[in-house]
Amino acid sequence: MTANTEKKAWWKEAVIYQIYPRSFADSNGDGIGDLNGITAHLPYLEKLGVDVIWLSPVYQSPNDDNGYDISDYRNIMTEFGTMEDFDRMLAEAHRHHLKIVMDLVVNHTSDEHAWFVESRKSKDNPYRDYYIWKEPRDGKEPNNWGSCFSGSAWEYDPATAMYYLHCFSKKQPDLNWDNPKVRDEVFDMMNWWCEKGIDGFRMDVISMISKDPAYPDGPVFDGLYGATGPYVCNGPHVHEYLQEMNRRVLSHYDLLTVGETAGVTVEEAKKYANNQGTELSMVFQFEHVDLVHGEIGKWTDEKPQLVNLRPVMNKWQYELEGKAWNSLFWDNHDQPRVVSRFGNDSEQYRVLSAKMLATCLHMMKGSPYIYQGEELGMTNAYFDQIEDYRDIESINAYHQYTENGLVTKEDMMRYLKEISRDNARTPMQWDASANAGFTTGTPWIRVNPNYTAINAEAELADPDSVFYYYQKLIALRHTHPIIVYGKFEGLLEDSASIYAYRRMLDGQTLTVACNFTKEEQPCALFDSLDGEELIANYKEHKEGVLQAYEARVILDRK
Ligand code: GLC
Ligand code: CA
Repeated sequence: MTANTEKKAWWKEAVIYQIYPRSFADSNGDGIGDLNGITAHLPYLEKLGVDVIWLSPVYQSPNDDNGYDISDYRNIMTEFGTMEDFDRMLAEAHRHHLKIVMDLVVNHTSDEHAWFVESRKSKDNPYRDYYIWKEPRDGKEPNNWGSCFSGSAWEYDPATAMYYLHCFSKKQPDLNWDNPKVRDEVFDMMNWWCEKGIDGFRMDVISMISKDPAYPDGPVFDGLYGATGPYVCNGPHVHEYLQEMNRRVLSHYDLLTVGETAGVTVEEAKKYANNQGTELSMVFQFEHVDLVHGEIGKWTDEKPQLVNLRPVMNKWQYELEGKAWNSLFWDNHDQPRVVSRFGNDSEQYRVLSAKMLATCLHMMKGSPYIYQGEELGMTNAYFDQIEDYRDIESINAYHQYTENGLVTKEDMMRYLKEISRDNARTPMQWDASANAGFTTGTPWIRVNPNYTAINAEAELADPDSVFYYYQKLIALRHTHPIIVYGKFEGLLEDSASIYAYRRMLDGQTLTVACNFTKEEQPCALFDSLDGEELIANYKEHKEGVLQAYEARVILDRK
């Protein structure tokens, strides 16, 4: 069955580009990216050909977690500009045929949000139940849960001698979604943004809004704290609350909605992103970027292997077929750079492997996401000193694990170079001038010194650049329905070096093969095919083999 039975939707045909505003473009020389910087670069994104921009948070925030700690949902962060700047950016984006998807961070607020300022004042404050407050247990934390940013997930508040829950930093208290007033407030705010004409929401850790009411201790995972995930991810009421959100907000507009669903399984994803459209358009799953785990969770410098990557990716392709829609991504503001992690960022192979990885992802079924700079093949930052890091998660983990002796400083620095979120947060590399053309001032985080060689200006002048390769992949998706709607089938599923698959639609077949290694690999897939070559990262092919990081895509119209 390869006829197109999939229900059509604009967001299924879209390619999304993520902007991390702080690091994208600074228009006023204060070293911090801003909205006017984004507006100035809209023609660049239109040239790339993407359909949608997902903006990481631009709301008022004290920036404990770079905007993921919101103190006012209806105002723009002072450093990023004003609401007038936002309105102009939105109008200009639409004029350039670009839609805007906002980040929605409502699992928690900032502790400086007016609701929390009230909530912590007294036990009978009207805002008390907007957050999750618990009595001490034996004079200590209510349970052993650890925060995602190190330390306990509970903070003691002397004013009322109780603890509040914060799955992230202590400046990010978790909202109590079981309180209908919280849901009213959030849905009102969402409607307010929709009325402004935005085109969707990316929902931050939305799988965490319903907690296990028993608040049990979790299994201790790093000798320090108990796991929190099992009791906060995909909780008992999460689908009920999202269905309510859908009824009261989402269904009234034509939106792209994508849930960042930490801990999601395929079974859960089929509910969140179900084809009936009662919850969200799609979700981000994280299995493929969580393949390697050390003794202290994500902190390791072990490289992921294709033999572990493929079964995960293919599983999501097979299992959601006809039931729910996939999102496709290699990196984002929380992940290291894809070419450094899954490819090869040496001078010799960076361009080839960046194109190969792009091919592998963009020919799959689902909506592809490109993280700023990925289209240039930007690499990890590889900072040498802890002082260069800005990310709260990286800095806290460094201190927690080196100070309690679990890891040496040298090991931790190696892990950060491999995995820290700051690898993706160095400024966008626009040109070879000072600070990569990102700012005329001092950037808030160091620029990757390789900007003199890797930058947008140079790539726009080079027809063989990573930029034009992405442009072509996007254009192909917009031209060939098989890339959007075709059914997926894995090939060579035992290969340790080649990722291959085909897509099928209405009698057509698209064959894709990618060599994940720097060695030539035998591959007979194309020897008997005589279809049209849609894209390839080598000009010449060798019969019976794929060359180092070679990627090929053939469309057979028979
Ligand atoms: C999400 C965001 C991340 C943030 C966290 C807490 O995972 O992507 O950047 O730190 O939620 O809001
Ligand atoms: Ca600025």
